[in-house]
Amino acid sequence: MKKEQIEKYWHSPWMLEILPEVTSTNDVLKKLALAGCPERTVIIADRQTGGKGRMGRSFYSPQDNGIYLSLLLRPSIRPREALQLTTAAASAAALAIDEVEGGPAMIKWVNDIYCRGKKTAGILTEAGFSGDDPEKPLSYAVVGIGFNVFEPEEGYPEEIRNIAGAVFPRDQRPATPEEREEIKAHLTAAFLDRIDLFCRSLSEKSYMESYREKSFLTGKEVLVLTQGHETKKNDPVRVIGIGDDAELIIQDQEGTISRLFSGEVSVREI
Ligand code: BTN
Repeated sequence: MKKEQIEKYWHSPWMLEILPEVTSTNDVLKKLALAGCPERTVIIADRQTGGKGRMGRSFYSPQDNGIYLSLLLRPSIRPREALQLTTAAASAAALAIDEVEGGPAMIKWVNDIYCRGKKTAGILTEAGFSGDDPEKPLSYAVVGIGFNVFEPEEGYPEEIRNIAGAVFPRDQRPATPEEREEIKAHLTAAFLDRIDLFCRSLSEKSYMESYREKSFLTGKEVLVLTQGHETKKNDPVRVIGIGDDAELIIQDQEGTISRLFSGEVSVREI
């Protein structure tokens, strides 16, 4: 992707740097953040050799078919509020996908975007802390997002074939790299415009409305996969909504309602 292509579509004051290949755009930007790089810097890479996901997973980042970008913010929020950034990014990503007529996009709590039942984007927010005091604002936040825009011609690797999908279905994959780059530039600009707006007034949480509207899990029965919540193992719970702090509101089979602030859930197969 070229800077001029992206700038043709956008209205945001981000400082873009586009690199052909990096290990991970998050890692590159974290180093820059520690060296004092100003906020609103965005690193985009054509491919990543060590793309990272949550929980130590890797993120498949081949050339040509995806967008891999990280943006640097220095918001005055406390560490426990950092989830706001992931939530804002998820809303921005889902709205941007709709704007370029991919999708339709849904958000799977907390940081995944799904289109036609498959994961098409993931978000990894990494924060830098200024000491041990939980009341002190973050020193920086790097929000990384990877979009699978088009399905690779050879399909996805075996390990992720069941989960991974693309923003545009196979029959909408443009034949030429130039056309694919144009669509990727438009999607990148749409995402940066949306997240810029959300981050300008982070405390107003204007991203929550679209986050709730696009919630893939609301109304579904799910299994809680990680700890931090006391449902009995393999006991499905129903997602009844999303709270103001982007926590999942769940109801167990006895009718008890509780809130899940972190972790992972899987949709129960019926
Ligand atoms: C996930 O699916 O758990 C999150 C995936 C986040 C991937 C993006 S791609 C750009 C940025 N750089 C990384 O190494 N990870 C994020």
